[in-house]
Amino acid sequence: MGKFHVLNHPLIQHKLTMIRQKDCGTKVFREVVNEISMLMAYEVSRDLPLEDVEIETPLVKTTLKTLAGKKVAIIPILRAGLGMVDGILELIPAAKIGHVGMYRDHDTLQPVEYFVKLPSDISERQLFVVDPMLATGGSAVAAIDALLKRGAQPNSIKFCCLVAAPEGVETLRSAHPEIDIYAAALDERLNEHGYILPGLGDAGDRLFGTK
Ligand code: PRP
Ligand code: URA
Repeated sequence: MGKFHVLNHPLIQHKLTMIRQKDCGTKVFREVVNEISMLMAYEVSRDLPLEDVEIETPLVKTTLKTLAGKKVAIIPILRAGLGMVDGILELIPAAKIGHVGMYRDHDTLQPVEYFVKLPSDISERQLFVVDPMLATGGSAVAAIDALLKRGAQPNSIKFCCLVAAPEGVETLRSAHPEIDIYAAALDERLNEHGYILPGLGDAGDRLFGTK
């Protein structure tokens, strides 16, 4: 069974409060989403496997640790997930990037898939699926379904968001119980239009200035 982690480090909480404010403009919003994503990447990558490597320091030969095993791919759910990619790349610069295009129908709130392009070896990679918002959970479930259909291994997928609603966490955990979920905050609830309260509004519009 995967775990649900709230990464409420003081720096993350402070930065998240900045971007929740309605007068935070696109430039700062984008910069701070990057910064939070970088801080979250530190925790999300905590259990990457290590292996021994023999090296020579200026003084002695010794055996130390280096990253081993599965290589990483970051999978942003378009559009808003794109805002989290650069921050994670700061820490894991060799990661490959796969894209899953998904938008939420405004009336039905159901996810609509419109684009999928993944690294050819996703079945061998540790996948970090990223999207700032986990609201009803429909987009996250559909994106992970799209990955599994194309060969991703369920125990190699982690989902990382900034703000989660309890409803979305429940839906994602029921559909994909094996997946670890990481959020910077667990908010109160969804409103009648499927927006997270208190939330931060429409993450895609705020990142790209499209309102
Ligand atoms: C937002 C957000 C998630 C989705 C969350 O995307 O980035 O992908 O809504 O809602 P859900 O959990 O209820 O599915 P949106 O559909 O607005 O598309 P965008 O990123 O292109 O703006
Ligand atoms: N998508 C967003 O961008 N924000 C929400 O609060 C819910 C879904």
